[in-house]
Amino acid sequence: MPLPACISRRSTGSIRTAFALFLSLSLSAAFAQAPDAALYGQGEKLFKGNCASCHKVDVKMTGPALKGAKAKWEGKGDIYAWVQNSQAYLKTGNEMAVKIWDQYKPTVMTPVALSKEEIDAVFYYVENWAPPVAKTEVKGHVGPVDEGSNSWLWLVILALLFLVVGLSLGGVKRSLASAVSEAEGKGPLPETTRMQRFRAWAWEHKVFMSFVGLFITVWVILALWDAAWVVGVYGGDEVPHYKPEQPILFNHTLHAGKADQGNLNINCQYCHSSAEKSKHAGIPSLNVCMNCHKAVSAGRTPEGTAEIAKIYAHIGWDPDKGQYTGKEEPVRWVKVHNLPDHAFFNHSTHVAVGKLECQECHGPIDQQMDVAEQWSPLTMGWCINCHNVKEVKMDGNGYYDEVMARLEGDTVLGHRELKQYLEDGKITVKELGGWECAKCHY
Ligand code: HEC
Ligand code: HEC
Ligand code: HEC
Ligand code: HEC
Ligand code: HEC
Ligand code: HEC
Repeated sequence: MPLPACISRRSTGSIRTAFALFLSLSLSAAFAQAPDAALYGQGEKLFKGNCASCHKVDVKMTGPALKGAKAKWEGKGDIYAWVQNSQAYLKTGNEMAVKIWDQYKPTVMTPVALSKEEIDAVFYYVENWAPPVAKTEVKGHVGPVDEGSNSWLWLVILALLFLVVGLSLGGVKRSLASAVSEAEGKGPLPETTRMQRFRAWAWEHKVFMSFVGLFITVWVILALWDAAWVVGVYGGDEVPHYKPEQPILFNHTLHAGKADQGNLNINCQYCHSSAEKSKHAGIPSLNVCMNCHKAVSAGRTPEGTAEIAKIYAHIGWDPDKGQYTGKEEPVRWVKVHNLPDHAFFNHSTHVAVGKLECQECHGPIDQQMDVAEQWSPLTMGWCINCHNVKEVKMDGNGYYDEVMARLEGDTVLGHRELKQYLEDGKITVKELGGWECAKCHY
């Protein structure tokens, strides 16, 4: 029995589409480029050791972003000679070199003792470098969220594929049934819409459909539940950190970072001086900045210099005359951290008494935060987790001597309780009352 022409055309058409989709997906996965790992590793090491103090791959720092530089120089200048000794190479009058020097002078790119092969490795690394995925790399944790959404994507693609194949097979089956019915002399099956057929099918498979319905409902509830946990949370591992743009681009890494990485290593409390003494750490006034910036009017880049000029504009300082103009315009820093009003947090309890480093709560702000961001989730769970595990440092801490005296004299707690506290040789914040609701809530 010859198949009616319409069957073969319709169904093989959609099967072909599905197959082509599948093929192109697998091919693109198979041909994704895998860079030469050894060369990449060598280049990365050399880059970090020799260039990273001034260059980043993708953004301008002290020197320009290096991505694309090699191709740019191709045929126009000797990039090897430039890297080995830029100032010497400038003397050849090469146009490329002069152009880039004009843009960056007087900042000098120091000579680097690398061979041509080593420089090739550096550029191999630079050209194959991929930006870290979202926030995960910066935080130094693995990113379950990203991996998760990736495998979800594949599941969805697979499901779509099956749907396409299923629908086209359904089409074949129906056309065959119709053809058979026609051949048997009963005439073609009545035309029905997809939706009608689906309803009839779902009715036949009630039990299965109820399971699917239940599954979808539970899944949606779980997803909503998950989302509810992170609503209003702007730090921690699950969500992107809150990192508002500031009126002046103040760079924490540059000012507070380590000196051996070319940073200024200013103590946090030089600027946040009330962290030791009071509830708030405080944001410094621009006068604190002017202690240095009366003299330092140039940044590391033209953009940096423009940001310093904003300090002058706000505080009313004329750098040319070297005097105040009296025209002030208060700077409005955007608050990064915002605990709700019903929660009480005190810096001096944690910094002066608890002897915590700022970084335990604010993360590596001095190492990798050009812009201040909310590192920790600031949820109640976050506070009490730390109180549960954190051992308080008792030795030589006058405040604790007092607490101990109080505990020993405490007839309610009594010596038995105290002994119990001390049994494991340590006292946690929780054991000192760090889980009492009233300590944190008004
Ligand atoms: C001390 C800082 C410093 C170091 C270290 C440094 N550079 Fe540079 N680099 C610069 C500056 C600044 C410029 C801009 C030109 C100038 O002012 O000399 C520059 C320019 C360049 C350029 C030209 C870019 C363009 O867009 O044309 C290349 C290429 C380059 N550097 C590569 C390197 C490599 C590779 C290394 C490491 C092996 C390195 N640099 C190390 C500061 C540095
Ligand atoms: C030279 C002065 C200076 C130094 C040093 C400095 N900061 Fe800051 N800090 C600021 C200024 C100005 C702001 C407000 C602008 C901003 O958020 O970037 C700020 C903001 C912050 C914020 C966000 C505050 C908010 O709005 O919630 C935190 C947290 C912070 N600093 C922590 C630190 C830590 C930790 C150190 C030491 C590693 C440090 N700072 C060193 C000047 C400084
Ligand atoms: C135990 C965790 C913890 C430690 C340690 C800590 N902070 Fe904070 N910090 C917070 C929290 C929580 C907030 C939000 C407070 C609020 O919104 O009321 C905050 C807010 C800030 C702010 C915003 C302004 C303010 O005072 O509210 C600055 C600036 C700051 N911290 C700097 C520092 C510096 C500098 C240190 C170290 C000397 C430090 N913090 C140590 C948890 C901590
Ligand atoms: C202890 C000295 C000191 C203090 C205090 C200080 N700075 Fe700086 N700042 C510097 C120096 C030095 C540079 C230039 C760094 C360089 O060129 O290597 C600089 C650079 C800058 C830059 C340019 C950054 C860039 O990328 O080129 C800005 C913007 C800036 N500071 C803002 C501030 C603000 C805002 C404050 C006050 C909250 C402040 N600084 C306080 C010493 C200081
Ligand atoms: C990284 C650890 C850590 C985190 C996070 C932390 N704390 Fe603490 N907390 C401490 C330590 C250590 C002490 C000092 C123990 C003491 O003095 O009783 C302390 C003490 C306190 C006290 C005084 C308790 C008492 O017995 O007097 C309060 C209130 C407090 N924390 C509130 C908070 C709040 C609110 C948060 C969250 C916004 C928070 N803490 C987050 C470590 C932490
Ligand atoms: C160590 C400090 C701390 C202790 C102890 C503490 N809380 Fe909280 N609590 C917080 C912080 C901080 C928040 C704000 C969290 C946020 O905004 O995500 C909060 C939020 C809450 C909220 C509001 C939830 C919300 O989503 O805003 C309730 C209700 C609450 N706490 C009840 C309690 C009760 C009841 C206790 C005693 C069993 C207690 N808390 C003990 C720090 C604490």
